[in-house]
Amino acid sequence: PRVAVIVVAAGSGTRLGAEAPKAFVGIDGHSILRHCLRGVFAGPAAQVVIVAPAGREGDALTDAETVGPRELVTVVTGGATRQASVAAGLSAVWADVEVVLVHDAARALTPPDVFARVIDAVDATGWGILPVLPVVDTIKRVDGVEVVAGVDRSELAAAQTPQGFRREVLDAAYASAPAEFTDDAALVAASGHRIGTVAGSERSFKITTAADLERARLLVAGVPD
Ligand code: CTP
Ligand code: MG
Repeated sequence: PRVAVIVVAAGSGTRLGAEAPKAFVGIDGHSILRHCLRGVFAGPAAQVVIVAPAGREGDALTDAETVGPRELVTVVTGGATRQASVAAGLSAVWADVEVVLVHDAARALTPPDVFARVIDAVDATGWGILPVLPVVDTIKRVDGVEVVAGVDRSELAAAQTPQGFRREVLDAAYASAPAEFTDDAALVAASGHRIGTVAGSERSFKITTAADLERARLLVAGVPD
């Protein structure tokens, strides 16, 4: 395939506070990772690189095999930071791949059409592309307890994944990454590349806290698979 999706699933889930690493926590009968992969496989054809916690590589493969073709799946072991995990995933991308998407396993309910939108926008522009939502809260800049300034909400967007890049752009940005960044778009922007946006989805929220997991449970309840 000409596209690869790197699904980073190697985090421990400190803020969720479950027994298992976050990707293997159940939403219903199925794990966060399995739900995520079901969405990935329902999108455009791609190599799927799963970045798993050390020791859970086999469990990741088992989740993948139940929702997609084994021959498209590669599993690698993650690193200490998200950025290190993405780098591990990048090193396993097949030679013929031209466009790479990086996706958080924790965004388990991301709809398949988001993947298609990101790929189309990368192809059309050559830019890095991320899905965004408008910011709904009124945002304040603060210094300790004091409000320093308001922020014009119309200039802001909330970043989601999957974030897509031309393969050589992402490879080069990771090869020379000067620091840790919280997302791949910031890392690629730091190497001088332009970044654009497409519409994200409310369903692409990241499962971070117990309240997020509860929201995911309500959304999948009663939806058969
Ligand atoms: N991730 C990863 N490797 C790491 C850290 C994070 O692959 N060393 C992945 C997570 O598995 C997750 C995504 O990056 O799918 C976004 O990270 P986050 O939501 O912060 O997950 P965790 O780091 O696991 O959670 P926490 O920060 O609460 O510990
Ligand atoms: Mg984290």
